[in-house]
Amino acid sequence: MADATPRLAVLASGRGSNLQAILDAIDDGRLHAQVAGVFGDKPAAFALARARAAGIPARALRPRDFAGRDEFDAALFAEVASVRPDVVVCAGYMRLLGAAALAPWAGRIINIHPSLLPDFKGLDTHARALAAGVPEHGASVHFVTADLDGGPVIAQARVPVLDGDDADALAARVLDTEHPLLVASLQLLCAGRIVLRDEVVELDGKLLAAPLQLASNRLPA
Ligand code: GRF
Repeated sequence: MADATPRLAVLASGRGSNLQAILDAIDDGRLHAQVAGVFGDKPAAFALARARAAGIPARALRPRDFAGRDEFDAALFAEVASVRPDVVVCAGYMRLLGAAALAPWAGRIINIHPSLLPDFKGLDTHARALAAGVPEHGASVHFVTADLDGGPVIAQARVPVLDGDDADALAARVLDTEHPLLVASLQLLCAGRIVLRDEVVELDGKLLAAPLQLASNRLPA
């Protein structure tokens, strides 16, 4: 993957700020990759408009047009496969993905999740972090498996929970760290430095004993 320009397919359901962070990093030379297609489950998602504005093919399928989740996933991933991605990036893609659709992509599909996994899997992570009274919150990039938000974690970014935070304020602080975290994780993945082997993450051929930690907007070189 390190020689040719790595091809990314991005899955998104919403506003697409993480997609934009990827596009910006490619544009200004921080990320050696190209976004080959953007796919989703919501035709009106702003992420798709961002893709089209950048000249990138974008397609959303509607779940209600399919008999069930497996049929939807199969159709979606047929679209994904059609752009021949090296890596699939779930960047705010808000639907569960089934094991059958994921199997061919094992080790080549990642997700960004707004919590310090394994804490706060699933939805409403910011409100749940506040309710739990944790002093620290953040975001994680992990390989996707059929275990929701449970795949091996590659890297994390931490933010403090501050007095007076509400869920929106905390979400905004986390989102600011998501963008550099996702780009830094993709830099390592696209360079072939991060690999999933036997369900564990390796960095430069060595077991990654704990997730990488984003510091000062950069992962360790
Ligand atoms: C991010 O917080 C991401 O971690 C979560 O959904 C949000 C998507 O934001 N999975 P955006 O669409 O990338 O702006």
